[in-house]
Amino acid sequence: MNREELENRKREVEDRYGAWISHNLQLQDDLYTIRRGVAGGNEARVRRVLQLVADLAHEPIERLRVLDLGAFEGLFAVELARRGATVVAVEGREASLEKMRLAKEALELENLEVRLEDVRTLDPQRHGKFDVLLCLGLLYHLDAPDVFQLLEHMRDLCNDLVIIETNVAPYPSERREHRGRQYWGLAVPEPPPDTPPLSRDALWSSIGNPKSFWLTRASLCNVLADMGYSSVLNCHLPPLLEERANRATFAALAAHSASHWATAIPGLSVDQRARPAARERAGSANCLPAHVAAVNR
Ligand SMILES: C[S@@+](CC[C@H](N)C(=O)[O-])C[C@H]1O[C@@H](n2cnc3c(N)ncnc32)[C@H](O)[C@@H]1O
Repeated sequence: MNREELENRKREVEDRYGAWISHNLQLQDDLYTIRRGVAGGNEARVRRVLQLVADLAHEPIERLRVLDLGAFEGLFAVELARRGATVVAVEGREASLEKMRLAKEALELENLEVRLEDVRTLDPQRHGKFDVLLCLGLLYHLDAPDVFQLLEHMRDLCNDLVIIETNVAPYPSERREHRGRQYWGLAVPEPPPDTPPLSRDALWSSIGNPKSFWLTRASLCNVLADMGYSSVLNCHLPPLLEERANRATFAALAAHSASHWATAIPGLSVDQRARPAARERAGSANCLPAHVAAVNR
């Protein structure tokens, strides 16, 4: 596509679905989806995710098959595809999908597949296996039991590196049971049904569920352990522009299980599982976004 055609296509997409909201992608030279240069905190998020993939995946990027869940406007999927990975981007909203399609076309990314699909109906059999799975800004938009179901499917879809960036509950308020185990978290309202469909709040959030269930950090670790992940790492570097107390980036790995020869190390029992830290238990509404803090006061 030449510059004029691309600008026309971009205008068409914006007229139909609204302007790009958050992912500032370079489409051509100085033509970006939002504005030239850095547009916010996402560039630092991309740097973090790319670094984790480079450091922790077991193959070079160009040999990886990557699944990006809730891919939104496609920044992470496009970045990995531009670096040569084979990427499947799953997104539940047509408006965001169309923006991704434009980037795919503009950058001629044959190795990027964009799919309109609800992550709650993912079928590991149909999708096959991936080397890297990205679940960024998505988990905390799901309610129980979907959140557990998705984590289970993620485990079936990827037995190497799973990167989860999510909000975590600042204190354990309610329990949910999954496969006979108890997990703690907080029920949080999602934007109400009358939210304008192309607004940032609507495009950004859950699809159809009026509330979501945020797991505590400890319960998220427990559920990942129960689903067979062998290590869960909490990422501090590369830094984000803004670190928030109730948000974290985890890398969960399940490729190898280590054996122990020098000591007798017991398997993890329920009593030894990660417990909510004292700070989490005491809790503070200050950690929560304003609309959530108000509801939970
Ligand atoms: C907060 S945004 C995060 C976007 C992107 N992954 C990022 O980290 O910048 C959540 C995205 O997940 C999508 N989403 C929410 N629930 C979904 C579902 N059940 N199935 C598919 N996509 C969903 C939303 O449409 C939105 O694009």
